Amino acid sequence: MNKSKIQEMETDFLIIGSGLSGLYAAIYASNFGKVSLITKSSIQESNSYWAQGGIAAAINDDDSIEIHKQDTLSVGCGLNNVGAVDVMVSEGTKRVLELIEQGMEFDRVESGFDFGIEGGHSRRRILHALGNETGKAVVDFLCKEVQKNNKISIYENSFVIDLFSNSKTCFGCLLFSDKKKNKISIHSKATILATGGGCGLYSQSSNPSSTSGDGIALGLNAGATVRDMEFIQFHPTVFSKDGAQNFLISEAIRGEGGQLVNHSKVRFMENYSKQLELAPRDVVAKAIFNEMRTNGEKNVFLSLKHLKSSLIKNRFKNTFELCLREGLDITKDDIPVSPAAHYMIGGVKTNTFSETNIKNLYACGEVACAGAHGANRLASNSLLECLVFAKRAVDSALRLSKKLEQIPPNLIEKAKKCSLISSDKKVERYLSYRISLSQIINNYVGILRNKKDLLLALNEISSIKRTNLDEFDLIDKRLMNLKSLTYLITKSALLREESRGSHVREDFSTQSAKWIKHISWKLNDGTLRFSYSKQ
Ligand code: SIN
Repeated sequence: MNKSKIQEMETDFLIIGSGLSGLYAAIYASNFGKVSLITKSSIQESNSYWAQGGIAAAINDDDSIEIHKQDTLSVGCGLNNVGAVDVMVSEGTKRVLELIEQGMEFDRVESGFDFGIEGGHSRRRILHALGNETGKAVVDFLCKEVQKNNKISIYENSFVIDLFSNSKTCFGCLLFSDKKKNKISIHSKATILATGGGCGLYSQSSNPSSTSGDGIALGLNAGATVRDMEFIQFHPTVFSKDGAQNFLISEAIRGEGGQLVNHSKVRFMENYSKQLELAPRDVVAKAIFNEMRTNGEKNVFLSLKHLKSSLIKNRFKNTFELCLREGLDITKDDIPVSPAAHYMIGGVKTNTFSETNIKNLYACGEVACAGAHGANRLASNSLLECLVFAKRAVDSALRLSKKLEQIPPNLIEKAKKCSLISSDKKVERYLSYRISLSQIINNYVGILRNKKDLLLALNEISSIKRTNLDEFDLIDKRLMNLKSLTYLITKSALLREESRGSHVREDFSTQSAKWIKHISWKLNDGTLRFSYSKQ
């Protein structure tokens, strides 16, 4: 293959990622121009697809946007950007009602929508679909729209190698098409990152391992600011049985009465919170972790035996079937669960209009950090965030990215040098480092953290020497990205000397007023540098 050969394309809106925010942005943008939608797998495959709980929106009679806002702020532990919360809860309601008008079906009971409840919500406000397969239902609904829309070109199995950026302006991206086995440059007026988060970097995660923070690395390498990387949200109840795959056991099950018990079959949440199993996610995750550590066990159990078996089999059909495959009938057997990495609160810094610090580069959904979640995300706010900030990204692009700017020649020259075929040895090295990095952050940068463990983790991460890696080799580049992301998570966790939101620093066990600030990162001349900011 001729290494310097690049197929050239042009578009108005380049959208990277095909989860809820990518699909939504693509459909909306197609009203205004040509759209290229890129995904490293197929458009049905994304982390959004696996979302279970649902979409939180204040549309029930006893609810209001203000109450939803207060619940979001109270879980966020003082670090939310209040403006972003306002935008998310108020515009979110509109976006959800529009979806319903367009034909998206959420589950109903006789009296209207069957609103669910999860930890930290003071009202029943969670719309769900197909029982607890909300992500699948919404993604399938939008995929159908995308597939029949001739303004949208879909690039599946296409991995973005780099954004074309001179650290001030973004001009599009260089991608590798696995199908055509070639490099494609997409020159765009606006580029929207919608790649999702990176919790699949942890060896124990509710996310598929493909959720590897690629978009955050792309943003960082392009000169964008990345922040709040220490805030990894751990989901309290992920299926946890030796030899079996981890999968999410939705919080909605606790919303319908599921109870947590330890190995002595004793309910323990009353020792930790008056809200019992429906305390905010961080409180429940920390309580479970504490029980496991105190009793020297690898898991606790979620017990549903007291619930009607028809409720379990209908409302949580998917969970019932997945557990049955693992040999458990959850109408009779308790489910072994433990906390696992679930949601990346930090990401590419944006303002409330989804603009990054790079001209023509926007970000929305889990890859972005507009600050709506603060130090801990309220359950089922993430799909809502996707809808709101995807629309805002397109609106900002329409306002600010009107013309196709020339790609600087040095960026084209760099793209030509990029090699797609790595040696077997490099692929082997990548895979083995990926496994060890995922174990390092899982073991040392979990819910409970301390300086000694974090320094150990940093030491191991630094042992991968950048000098051995070739920035023009695709596999080496992916390894460098992996190294940067695990470094940012770990170093930020070390810098934050307090316990706030999603994690506990055992050596700084309280919240501190001086830490009402964010840790932001930028790549300057190949070196990652941090700074602090109030917003
Ligand atoms: C769940 O169903 O428990 C997950 C919902 C969420 O992460 O928002």
